[in-house]
Amino acid sequence: MRVRLKGDAICTLFLLVALCSLLYSQLEHLVPVGNKQLTQKKPSATPKTFSDSRAPWRPMPAEATEPRLQVTPVLRQREVANKRVQTTTPSPLSDSAFNFKRYLLNKDNRNFNLLINQPKKCRRTPGGPFLLIAIKSVVEDFDRREIVRKTWGREGLVNGEQIQRVFLLGTPKNKTVLATWETLIQQESQSYRDILLWDFMDTFFNLTLKEIHFLNWAAEFCHNVKFIFKGDADVFVNVENIVDFLERHDPTEDLFVGDIIYNARPIRVRKSKYYIPETMYGLSIYPAYAGGGGFLLSSHTMRKLSRACKEVELFPIDDVFLGMCLQRINLKPTLHEGFKTFGIVKPSAAPHLQTFDPCFYKDLMVVHSLKVAEIWLMWNLLHNPHLSCTQKKQVKKPFQWKKKAQTTTQVSPPRLVVSKKTILRNEMELNS
Ligand SMILES: *[C@@H]1O[C@H](CO)[C@@H](O)[C@H](O)[C@H]1NC(C)=O
Ligand SMILES: *[C@@H]1O[C@H](CO)[C@@H](O)[C@H](O)[C@H]1NC(C)=O
Repeated sequence: MRVRLKGDAICTLFLLVALCSLLYSQLEHLVPVGNKQLTQKKPSATPKTFSDSRAPWRPMPAEATEPRLQVTPVLRQREVANKRVQTTTPSPLSDSAFNFKRYLLNKDNRNFNLLINQPKKCRRTPGGPFLLIAIKSVVEDFDRREIVRKTWGREGLVNGEQIQRVFLLGTPKNKTVLATWETLIQQESQSYRDILLWDFMDTFFNLTLKEIHFLNWAAEFCHNVKFIFKGDADVFVNVENIVDFLERHDPTEDLFVGDIIYNARPIRVRKSKYYIPETMYGLSIYPAYAGGGGFLLSSHTMRKLSRACKEVELFPIDDVFLGMCLQRINLKPTLHEGFKTFGIVKPSAAPHLQTFDPCFYKDLMVVHSLKVAEIWLMWNLLHNPHLSCTQKKQVKKPFQWKKKAQTTTQVSPPRLVVSKKTILRNEMELNS
């Protein structure tokens, strides 16, 4: 009897301890989760109703009058996120000491020469190309460009629509890394006629310059294009699905579609690579903007943005800068599930699925940060005429993306673009 009582007491004690530690761990989790809720990029309601209720925030830092919210950093998670940086576009990590003072001083210096142009890019097809694919790249990433050319960035007809391609480049930051860079780029331009090179240093914080210069270039040299996809070189894009989507839209109307991030907050932690001091941006929330990876816009919107961006002060984060331009023309960017570059569960989360089953990708669309060889392989597997995906629906069911499809669509639309970098950046925003 006494033994049993003792045993009961020990059991109760053990259970109590277990319960306590469980509660404690839950509490620990609650902090970042709470932050996530606050800075969640997508509203739980449909984005349309949400964006309508958005206050008209101004991009000008000087107008900042709102009370500022104190941000608690979750440094550990950010460190983890930092370690996952792996991109082809210039990484913020390599631009360690970002000098805000200098940035602000040089902010008005925003017109740089075009060193290599492709003035005939959009004149080859009568009526202009249907889709212009514009890919951010850096001079050093020759192999990435090669693989994009051979796969999803191919020029020519897709579903009967003319596709053209350009790579957007600045001058290399460290010119000694690739001493032959000038010859290489000249040669590439002659061979492929798809290089646009501007005379500014290709750094992470200069990507905004790339944005502005590209829009200006498109307005001047490619005004007859119907749609534009602008994206990174480290994503796999399903151009067939993009064309299919765009064929249902009017290029003379406004269109801006991507993985739209709502209510992201500027990071006020000095140590962060995305740190933005209040002198640079005083409001507590950024305007809605498209996360990296890629976005689509109509010819009409391209021209409007090209004008609007000229009037917006330079901002070192290019995605946010474009969000400011969108706000200026009062255009609400459209969130499309196909651009869900956030909260992607790696295929390893569904171990019963073969990562390299092309049917998996055909249906779910795109894959983040594939290696050069993997992009090539996937594209070829997907374009195998003998590819038959009979168990497509089987594959789809058990796989759950983090967010459910919008209620307006019965079937989850295909995923068009996914990049790892966006996930990283979103994580950072969530953590701030
Ligand atoms: C440029 O790259 C070379 C080779 O990687 C390196 O030795 C050199 O220190 C770098 N220069 C600068 C200014 O970063
Ligand atoms: C952007 O490019 C310009 C021109 O090359 C350069 O002077 C400037 O330092 C660069 N800015 C950043 C933030 O890298």
